[in-house]
Amino acid sequence: MGARIVGTGSYLPPRAVPNCDLENLVDTSDEWIVQRTGIRERHLLEEQELPSEMGVAAGRAALEAAGSAAGDVDLVLVATTFPDMTCPGTAPFVAAGLGTGDAPFFDLTAGCTGFVYGIAVAEGFLVSGLAECVLLIGSEALSRVTDWNDRRTCVLFGDGAGAVVLRPGPEGAGVLGVSVHGDPEKALLLHMPAGGTRLPASHNTVDARLHYLQMEGSGVFRSAVPLMERALDRALGKAGLSMNDVDWVIPHQANLRIIDALARRLAIPRDRVMSNLDRVANTSAASIPIALDEAVRRGQIQPGDVVAMTAFGAGVTYGAAIVRM
Ligand code: UT7
Repeated sequence: MGARIVGTGSYLPPRAVPNCDLENLVDTSDEWIVQRTGIRERHLLEEQELPSEMGVAAGRAALEAAGSAAGDVDLVLVATTFPDMTCPGTAPFVAAGLGTGDAPFFDLTAGCTGFVYGIAVAEGFLVSGLAECVLLIGSEALSRVTDWNDRRTCVLFGDGAGAVVLRPGPEGAGVLGVSVHGDPEKALLLHMPAGGTRLPASHNTVDARLHYLQMEGSGVFRSAVPLMERALDRALGKAGLSMNDVDWVIPHQANLRIIDALARRLAIPRDRVMSNLDRVANTSAASIPIALDEAVRRGQIQPGDVVAMTAFGAGVTYGAAIVRM
């Protein structure tokens, strides 16, 4: 018995913000952003939109694609780094919005690797018989924790959500191999200093701008390719496959230079490595399921194709999942 992806969905907020709009906020340029990151625009929530509404929209689309109803879902798993509310998270609001009744729900916090970790958790629920229909959503509203005065981070991120429905299936038909890892020594490469129980919100923390995402960009950059390559290697080993068996690689969408370098290291043709970073920017745990759904809907990924997903992110977490669609 294994786990199969039977439907995908995604949602991007309608407001697309091109790089040139950021030139009015910080000392940056479209040229710098495109050359250093590959990003041209990102979709951002309006002030009145709730982050969990993105998860609901993506989840609804995935359920529709799977031919499933909200009532079929017996686990709602939301990978998110910055939930709607620190307590109770994002998952209860997504579950309520979808109408999944008394099905269990919880948030999964593993930074940008959250969706890949989520595949491992979903597979565990399905294979153990704890669930028969898992709705796994990656949903992130990074614009709400971005310091729009910090040019080192504000140009990088976007908002959005992606989702998949997983059901039990015959072994070898769906999730073929998953490998998830961490490097806790690098925990502070990407973090938000205040607002947790270590440094609760106070006037001082607000004045010191400690409620925004802080990142040591070059440290993350250097780790990204070797970590994703290592995770892919291990996941392929578990699947009993090699890169030659992979039809598509969907890497976490953080930086086009990272994606290009990964493609070179894997020696896989560049057009087999998905990227929507130019339009979507870095949507953290939502980036892989958004790219997956877009590729499925335009018919690029076909049933039976082997897709290798790999990510790295805050924690530091990293991982990979090999899935036959
Ligand atoms: O999702 C997982 C988490 N995030 C990531 O994966 C991000 C990984 N890191 C990166 O993508 C890259 O490190 C960045 C895009 C963040 C930065 O690119 P870089 O090539 O590593 O640049 P850098 O940090 O070494 O900065 C080079 C210069 C600096 O100026 P000086 O000190 O050389 O004068 C920065 O101040 O570029 C400057 N800079 C900018 N200039 C214009 C940094 N951000 C900007 C900006 N516009 N937005």
